[in-house]
Amino acid sequence: MSSALPLPPELERVLFTRPQLRRRVARLGRRITVDYAGKNLVLVTVLRGGAFFLTELALAIDLPLTVDFLAISGFPGATVQPRVVQVLKDLEEDLVGKDVLLVEDVVDTGLTLAYILRLLRARRPASLEVCTLLDKNARRIVDIPLRYVGFQVPDVFVVGYGLDYRQRFRNLPFIGVLREETLADPSRA
Ligand code: IMP
Ligand code: MG
Repeated sequence: MSSALPLPPELERVLFTRPQLRRRVARLGRRITVDYAGKNLVLVTVLRGGAFFLTELALAIDLPLTVDFLAISGFPGATVQPRVVQVLKDLEEDLVGKDVLLVEDVVDTGLTLAYILRLLRARRPASLEVCTLLDKNARRIVDIPLRYVGFQVPDVFVVGYGLDYRQRFRNLPFIGVLREETLADPSRA
């Protein structure tokens, strides 16, 4: 790993270094710049994890755009399965006629994304596509077309660059794999 930071003991290894993330995000930004030229681009993300990726992606897109945020509850992540979804914070922009790019940190089962896409589609945007930093394809339950994907990831629990385990590790500047023991023993993290 090229990061000089010591690896927290709860992590097993680094999956993507800061330079790898930076390069990949820059490339996605260039593609989006080409694809969305002349459009009404709105980047939308789901708090809190996606905000990190959205920020860097937006800086890599050389077009006029706006950003908006959504917060939901009910998808607590690793250890608990989704049940009820609630909108905790709604978007502030009207999406009618806009070209919406939903920016996600990770698509795992796809259940969260399916819910959010349904919600956004009802707002009648001109177009609606997905850009996810990570695609954990092996665990997909709902098939969702992902227009832009940063990296494919194996079926492991990853943290850093916005991704959390119980709200921790979001500020790691790299993406790392959480140790199985950490996940298995809730008192450790
Ligand atoms: P879904 O299974 O695709 O609905 O993913 C739901 C949410 O679970 C994601 O938006 C993340 O917040 C969280 N999640 C899934 N996999 C990981 C992971 O490996 N690390 C951290 N969060 C994850
Ligand atoms: Mg989360």
